[in-house]
Amino acid sequence: MIMKRIIIAIDGPAASGKSTAAKLLAQKLRYIYLDTGAMYRACAVAAKRAGIDILDQTALVELLSKIDVKVLFTEAGNVIHLNDEDVSQAIREPDISNLASAISAQKVVREKMVQLQREMGRNGGVVLDGRDIGTVVFPNAELKFFLVAPLEVRAQRRFLELQSKGHQPVFEQVLQEMRKRDAADSSRDLAPLVAAEDAIHVDSKDYSIEEMVEVLYRHYHKLVEAGC
Ligand code: DC
Repeated sequence: MIMKRIIIAIDGPAASGKSTAAKLLAQKLRYIYLDTGAMYRACAVAAKRAGIDILDQTALVELLSKIDVKVLFTEAGNVIHLNDEDVSQAIREPDISNLASAISAQKVVREKMVQLQREMGRNGGVVLDGRDIGTVVFPNAELKFFLVAPLEVRAQRRFLELQSKGHQPVFEQVLQEMRKRDAADSSRDLAPLVAAEDAIHVDSKDYSIEEMVEVLYRHYHKLVEAGC
């Protein structure tokens, strides 16, 4: 039987487990995985290096005209290129998270990234994770999830991740920054973080990562069996 290759949208706040779940689900289905947050992070790296004020529209438009953000799909996951330089590590630096959140609120940036995301996903067979995939990028995606987890649980995950990368984070600070980023991503005018009406809500604190992928897979399976 030839299975239809659908678009799967996974949205949710920072450290809700969406990237890990999306990547593993894509592997299981032999789909492409696209981390859209990484693309906004690449823009943030470019803005930081250029030293521009991201509220300065002229400078931002000029920067965007000069940068090429590419996502390479590899066995190990997404490799992010900024003008042919691999910035997969640089985009994970702690100060880039807030800058990515701020730059992603800018219309010109969103327009360019959303267009690229649509080009990469339009043929289906793709799992995308982000904040606005089910609401804006692919409102007609066949399957949509909204992953959540309590703030403290997400901050603890980020705290451990930073530690494992050799940083010396302070838990309270990680918590405060995550709270601020949640608020910024959810309250912005353009494509704010909200669940699509038809999204399936999953709380990642209830599951191990393997269990969570299984939950998502079961929903996929049900949909395909119903002949979506
Ligand atoms: O998922 P992440 O933490 O890597 O995303 C970094 C920032 O990018 C996030 O704070 C908001 C923004 N983002 C967005 O606005 N839309 C997306 N689809 C993905 C990320």
